[in-house]
Amino acid sequence: MTIALVLATPEATERLGAGIAREVTGPCVIYLRGDLGAGKTTFARGFMRALGHGGTVKSPTYTLVEDYATAGGQRVFHCDLYRIADPEELEYIGIRDFADGCSVLLVEWPERGQGVLPPADLDIRLRFADGARDCRATALSAVGERLLDRIQDGIAAVEGDGNNATKP
Ligand SMILES: Nc1ncnc2c1ncn2[C@@H]1O[C@H](COP(=O)(O)OP(=O)(O)OP(=O)(O)O)[C@@H](O)[C@H]1O
Ligand SMILES: [Mg+2]
Repeated sequence: MTIALVLATPEATERLGAGIAREVTGPCVIYLRGDLGAGKTTFARGFMRALGHGGTVKSPTYTLVEDYATAGGQRVFHCDLYRIADPEELEYIGIRDFADGCSVLLVEWPERGQGVLPPADLDIRLRFADGARDCRATALSAVGERLLDRIQDGIAAVEGDGNNATKP
C-alpha cells in the first residue's frame, strides 16, 4: 500500500511522524528519503514527541545516530547516514545494536547504508512542492501495511483541509 499526501507546513510533517509513532508497537524500520531539507528530521521530531520524548530532537547529522529510550519503554535509534562514505561504516556506529529485534529505527539517507541496513517496513519519501512537501509512504512488510492502515483515518488531520489521501 502507498499513501500519497501533501504536507503544507512543518507542523503537518510532525503530525505525520506523530501519527505513525502512536501506532508503532514493536520492532520497526522506517526509511526517510528526500533531498537535504526535505523534512526527514522534522518527521522524526514529531515521532519522538508523540512517544513522550520531552527534550530536543537533534539532527544526527554529525553524531550519525541519536539513541532514545521513551517513557513507554520503546527504544528508538534515529540515524542520518548522509556522511557515511561506505555502508561498512555502519558497523562502527553499532548497526548490530539497532537491529535488536525490538527497537524502532528511523533512518535518514538510507540509500547510503544499502546492503547493511535492515530492510524497511515503511519507506517515506518527501519532495519539495511549492513551499510544501509531497509525501509518499509505502508499506514494504506486514508491519508497514498495518501501520499505514491504522493511520488512514488520521490523514485528514495531518494534511489539514482541502486534501485527500489517495491509494494509488
Ligand atoms: N511540510 C513542510 N512544509 C514546509 N517546510 C517544511 C515542511 N516540513 C519540514 N519543513 C522545513 O524544512 C526544513 C528542513 O527540515 P529538516 O531538517 O527536517 O530536513 P531534513 O530532510 O532532515 O534535511 P537533511 O537531509 O539536511 O537532514 C525545516 O526548516 C523544516 O521546518
Ligand atoms: Mg535531517
